[in-house]
Amino acid sequence: MRTFHRTLLAVCAVLAALCTVSCTEQFHSRRIRRPVGLGLGLRAKSTAGMQCPDNKCRIYETYYIEQKIDHYGFINDDTFKMRYLVAQQYWDKNGGPIFFYTGNEGDITWFCDNTGFMWDIAPEFKAMLVFAEHRYYGESLPYGKESYMDREHLGYLTSEQALADYAVLIKYIKSSIPGAASSPVVAFGGSYGGMLAAWMRMKYPDAVVGSIAASAPIWSLNNLTNCNTQFTIITKDFTEVSPTCSKTIRASWAVIDKFGLTAEGKEQLRTSLRLCSPVLTGDDVAVIKDWLTETWFNLAMVDYPYNASFLEPLPAFPIEVVCSHIKSANATGVALLEELAEAVNVYYNYTGSAKCFNTSQTATGSLGDKGWGFQACTEMVMPSCMDGKQDMFEPSPWVYEAYVKECQADWNVTPRPDWPIVQYWGKNISAASNIVFSNGLLDPWSAGGVLKSISDTVVAVIIPEGAHHLDLRSHNKDDPPSVIAARNTEKANIKKWIAKAHGNL
Ligand SMILES: *[C@@H]1O[C@H](CO)[C@@H](O)[C@H](O)[C@H]1NC(C)=O
Ligand SMILES: *[C@@H]1O[C@H](CO)[C@@H](O)[C@H](O)[C@H]1NC(C)=O
Ligand SMILES: *[C@@H]1O[C@H](CO)[C@@H](O)[C@H](O)[C@H]1NC(C)=O
Ligand SMILES: *[C@@H]1O[C@H](CO)[C@@H](O)[C@H](O)[C@H]1NC(C)=O
Ligand SMILES: *[C@@H]1O[C@H](CO)[C@@H](O)[C@H](O)[C@H]1NC(C)=O
Ligand SMILES: *[C@@H]1O[C@H](CO)[C@@H](O)[C@H](O)[C@H]1NC(C)=O
Repeated sequence: MRTFHRTLLAVCAVLAALCTVSCTEQFHSRRIRRPVGLGLGLRAKSTAGMQCPDNKCRIYETYYIEQKIDHYGFINDDTFKMRYLVAQQYWDKNGGPIFFYTGNEGDITWFCDNTGFMWDIAPEFKAMLVFAEHRYYGESLPYGKESYMDREHLGYLTSEQALADYAVLIKYIKSSIPGAASSPVVAFGGSYGGMLAAWMRMKYPDAVVGSIAASAPIWSLNNLTNCNTQFTIITKDFTEVSPTCSKTIRASWAVIDKFGLTAEGKEQLRTSLRLCSPVLTGDDVAVIKDWLTETWFNLAMVDYPYNASFLEPLPAFPIEVVCSHIKSANATGVALLEELAEAVNVYYNYTGSAKCFNTSQTATGSLGDKGWGFQACTEMVMPSCMDGKQDMFEPSPWVYEAYVKECQADWNVTPRPDWPIVQYWGKNISAASNIVFSNGLLDPWSAGGVLKSISDTVVAVIIPEGAHHLDLRSHNKDDPPSVIAARNTEKANIKKWIAKAHGNL
């Protein structure tokens, strides 16, 4: 479990990018290598001749703004180019709103591509879309290739610096695009991006009139002795599909350990689980268990009601398909390993092209993992634990001291878990306004979400059949009524915020 506790949300960033329809290749984006006045005739490009599935080709242009690397002090005057994407084709220049995605820990084009909800509603709202890239991710690297070199270069990777970047960008857009000065800005975000969207409204209420914070586990940060219940939620997802499935997974850890005791057993693990690499050491056995744990975690996040594709596509309700392979209640030994292999096959081999399973790959690509490791070791300490009783996982208690040691070894930093409680108000957000917090109850991250409305204007929306920010994805014919209702609540709130900003309430 070496880095496991620290990789979870990075995983979720990448999964946030899971898409139904992707036409990334067909995007026309113009790269401009310096900050540009947006007013200089920015125009949407024609899609003529393009093959865009479902006519959902998403057209935007790419810009860069120069930002201070340190917004908070007066010693470091370095600057960097922050990337952002703009779609103006739906925008009403006479006060139409600006929908602003507060980018999270990954390449912003992924979030742009996959936050279909913003694209779906932009025409109705006559909104401009802006997707801002989080510093230290994608192309927005403050010190280029050296950004991750050491903590002197990496130390400006904080949520508050990112929020300041977004506030500066919003002011710049409003002052430089004719017509934008009177455009109310609404923040959107999912996962860590949802946390940023909520905090954007709390920290810069002059810049954004309201925020849609989807699957934003802001309350995973608050309490070092409460290790959250992400793994209980995952277990519930599996048990609801099949009690045998979660029971068998719970039993699997000891079985794997037993095979791991001998050389023959290790070889059996390799062949039965169809692994690419030999299993030689106890560490290799631990890696297998981490890989399976992460796979079950990921499946709970993407348990969407329709097939969603990422590097490889997944079937609709993938947990049902996975559990259809874990079916012999008393499977032990090799039979159990073979069932597990069939189960992960659903996740890693839906197209049938995988020759073997690579335990260093968890279908999360390369996005974000690294930077999130640093964020998790500084501000974003989100306790998690497993006990094997309330959940189906191998017991792994939350040991803060061990976590700190790993952070010091890996990054030469010591976490400051109390800081977000100060700067983002802990659990007392009653002074906030105009935020919708949405959570799907299948999503492990709902464990740290705001599940009850705080006031008339800080509203919780629950999507019982929803996985990780299902509501931010494009509409789909297989959407459950609860996500349609959630999107309607979100739209109603946005309308209210905009009307108020225009003085119509
Ligand atoms: C932190 O969580 C623990 C365990 O859930 C709980 O007993 C304690 O009251 C919490 N502390 C605060 C300050 O919320
Ligand atoms: C497994 O994946 C890792 C990371 O992508 C890669 O470096 C390695 O070569 C792969 N191993 C095999 C045997 O494919
Ligand atoms: C996903 O579902 C759609 C419609 O139900 C279907 O046309 C498509 O082939 C499916 N894709 C995959 C990869 O299964
Ligand atoms: C599994 O084992 C239990 C007792 O350990 C037994 O009661 C049950 O009938 C078995 N189920 C199957 C499907 O063999
Ligand atoms: C992937 O699927 C194909 C086709 O079903 C199968 O032949 C192959 O053995 C699978 N790969 C693994 C690693 O299970
Ligand atoms: C919560 O914040 C409000 C102000 O926003 C304050 O009046 C109240 O005392 C705080 N509650 C607690 C328990 O600190």
